[in-house]
Amino acid sequence: MSNPELCDIPETWSQLEPAKLHGTVLIIGASDTGKSTLARYLLSYLSEQGRRVGLLDCDVGQSILGLPTTLNLLVAEPGALNFPPPGRRAAFFVGHVTPRGHMLPVLVGAHKLQQQANAWGAEVLLVDTTGLIAPAQGGVALKRWKIELLNPTTVIALARERELDRIIWPLRRDRRLRLIELPVSPHAHLRPREVRIERRRQLFQAYFAQASIEDIPLDHRPIYGLDEFVPGRLLALQDEAGFCLGLAIGRRYDSRHNQITALTPVTDFTPICSLRVGSLWLDPVTGREREPVSSTAHYSAS
Ligand SMILES: Nc1ncnc2c1ncn2[C@@H]1O[C@H](COP(=O)(O)OP(=O)(O)O)[C@@H](O)[C@H]1O
Ligand SMILES: [Mg+2]
Repeated sequence: MSNPELCDIPETWSQLEPAKLHGTVLIIGASDTGKSTLARYLLSYLSEQGRRVGLLDCDVGQSILGLPTTLNLLVAEPGALNFPPPGRRAAFFVGHVTPRGHMLPVLVGAHKLQQQANAWGAEVLLVDTTGLIAPAQGGVALKRWKIELLNPTTVIALARERELDRIIWPLRRDRRLRLIELPVSPHAHLRPREVRIERRRQLFQAYFAQASIEDIPLDHRPIYGLDEFVPGRLLALQDEAGFCLGLAIGRRYDSRHNQITALTPVTDFTPICSLRVGSLWLDPVTGREREPVSSTAHYSAS
């Protein structure tokens, strides 16, 4: 196998038999077990073989394709070598950087993007996931129901010890799919929480560095979650299919003029068909995440 990522390819990866992969391939594992590294490796390998491959990045905290708070799909042009390769893209706004407390949008978004990948002709769809696997935090339920919903042909489980047992135990007997259990590469290293937060901060800061304050008319645009609107809260600008075209940080809701004033790098609002209020409060200058300070008192009629 070629290795454009220059990652360690453990001997155990030979079980993957990439040429046989088809349909949806879900990669699960705790944080920093090498899920994204494996997804990138398979994407490059299969693309190089001339196959049309999709990568559905469901990691709302540590996305490798898009901004935190969003799920991202890329269907790559066959033959591409670099990462990210050229191809068609779509994103779905979840509104927070963890699936905890936001599992419905994670599942709905993953399903919508899977359908989009099919419509764009992906022969293989690699699904990268968050490292949330703790039962008490809903990790087991999330993985279980995501498997039921996305109906993968293959589940690749990267485990250090037995931490995935509760998720994969029934999968070992499930004839609807092939379970491939892999050990974690010794080259996989743990990234401290502060490193993850800092990575998100830099991505948000860079995204909003080019932003300007815009008035977005709401005449023909529903805004979902207006009751939760607070200045400083992250918003998604969505297209006619409900996919996310860009992010904004809300400044003010003006009911008299029926518009939202927001900071956003998006300048063309023609394709924006709806807005969605997220759960994250963001400082546009530093890119730092905070919890919302108060609720609806910030509506303005002026
Ligand atoms: N097979 C591998 N070879 C080399 N480095 C690896 C390998 N797997 C993981 N790593 C490194 O370990 C870290 C965590 O890997 P990553 O793929 O981001 O994990 P996850 O997506 O499961 O959180 C990254 O810095 C990555 O480069
Ligand atoms: Mg990852």
